[in-house]
Amino acid sequence: MLEIIKSRRSIRCFKKQAVESTVLHTIIGAGTWAPSGLNNQPWKFIIIRSRDMREKLAGLTKYGSIICDAPVCIAVLLDSSLSYDHTKDVQAIGACIQNMLLQTHALGLGAVWLGEILRNGAAVRALLKVPDTMEFMALIALGYPAEENAVSERKKTEEVILCEL
Ligand SMILES: Cc1cc2nc3c(=O)[nH]c(=O)nc-3n(C[C@H](O)[C@H](O)[C@H](O)COP(=O)(O)O)c2cc1C
Repeated sequence: MLEIIKSRRSIRCFKKQAVESTVLHTIIGAGTWAPSGLNNQPWKFIIIRSRDMREKLAGLTKYGSIICDAPVCIAVLLDSSLSYDHTKDVQAIGACIQNMLLQTHALGLGAVWLGEILRNGAAVRALLKVPDTMEFMALIALGYPAEENAVSERKKTEEVILCEL
């Protein structure tokens, strides 16, 4: 487990190779096994393969080239009709996305969580025709990696433990 967690890197360059639907379903399925408050499972997903749609989305973030390069993107939505506590729902969505990133990596694919595009969230919602009851939370760009998993650093564990009581 720790090996998968530590070797996962954000992947921003992809091969042209399409991602099979079965693989996408496995990745989304992993997301749905995340914990959520009262097990309310507040997530919904839109799969975006269309080049035209990806190019339009690309215009809404400075990381647009990643969206054009990736063969597929997944928009992650929070379904407010299932909500009982917004903070907890957002936390659950984060857990869901991390599950998806780890499953993607474990399958030999790569992905990046794109959040900068949230500054144009309203435009994304309009473009993807997101229902009024749903909130756009993140875009995941994914595909078969065309780059090695880079080396990354994290703060030392001792540094992030505030105290032990
Ligand atoms: C909430 C969130 C938003 C992010 N938004 C972006 C983004 O818009 N563009 C991007 O290239 N990476 C984005 N990332 C990826 C981070 O830059 C990346 O996870 C971080 O630098 C650590 O690198 P690693 O994922 O390779 O370990 C985002 C990550 C998170 C969790």
